Amino acid sequence: MTSTRPAVLLTRRVPSSIQAKLEAVCDLHLEESALSPDELREKVRGKAGLICVLTDRIDDALLDAAPDLRIVANIAVGYDNIDVAAARERGVVVTNTPDVLTQAVAEFTWALILGVARRVAEADRLVRAGGWKGWGLDFMLGTELRGKQLGIIGAGRIGRAVAAKAPAFGMRAVFAKHDMSMDELLVSSDVISIHTPGTKDTRHLINRKTLIRMKRSVLLVNTARGSIVDEEALAWALDERLIAGAALDVYEREPTVHPALLKHENVLLAPHIASATRETRTAMAELAVKNVLAVLAGDPPLTPVS
Ligand code: DGY
Repeated sequence: MTSTRPAVLLTRRVPSSIQAKLEAVCDLHLEESALSPDELREKVRGKAGLICVLTDRIDDALLDAAPDLRIVANIAVGYDNIDVAAARERGVVVTNTPDVLTQAVAEFTWALILGVARRVAEADRLVRAGGWKGWGLDFMLGTELRGKQLGIIGAGRIGRAVAAKAPAFGMRAVFAKHDMSMDELLVSSDVISIHTPGTKDTRHLINRKTLIRMKRSVLLVNTARGSIVDEEALAWALDERLIAGAALDVYEREPTVHPALLKHENVLLAPHIASATRETRTAMAELAVKNVLAVLAGDPPLTPVS
């Protein structure tokens, strides 16, 4: 007997209580680890719902392979892995997970700002390597944040949450295009933090030309999308000492990091974990599941992408 329950493909394990909500009404097909594009296309065949992560590419070919698909629920706020126009053409709803990760990403952005300004990862490496020879008046000097300007590119939820914490460190936060032009922000900021989505318009927004405009003492932070920073240009700017340092959570070709960035002590590198707290990842999975359940029940999705 064939099931009348809608089939849903979940491309990563989620907490069991959340999985149970899906299993109560759907035929759930769970994948434990990353699928290749071919495997994903194969597994999505016949499914009404797809719950995926940002490393799953949802394109024309995948959508063609799944004519019954009604919703793609991304467990991420960014959805540059999904061809939204192609989904829309086929009447497939696309949802993301805004709001629930805002604080986690904002907190992590501050961890990176403080980490690169005060050389935390570099200091840890030095201690572990036995390189600490004792207290020194001029040893491992960092940069103080108090009185400095934090330039924020992207005035969405996360950018605004990062800005809200700036007064706690005595920093003045300014937004590109709101408080000043992008160029004014580049030339006057002491820390520049990127919080704009990864789209074709923001690709390589940070490039040789924009890096040259920055202060030589600037610290550049990216927790948004790797595509926004031209890594080749960033490596060049660091080699030429055109900027003082960078802290990155996202990369152009994840999980590969441009090799030139690895050799710079003044670059803090994190493995795309800005939203990775237990609380937030649970909330993200829960929201994705709620979106799927709503759409499959014929209700509007909670958080459709516009
Ligand atoms: C997102 O949600 O887009 C984040 O990059 C996930 O960590």
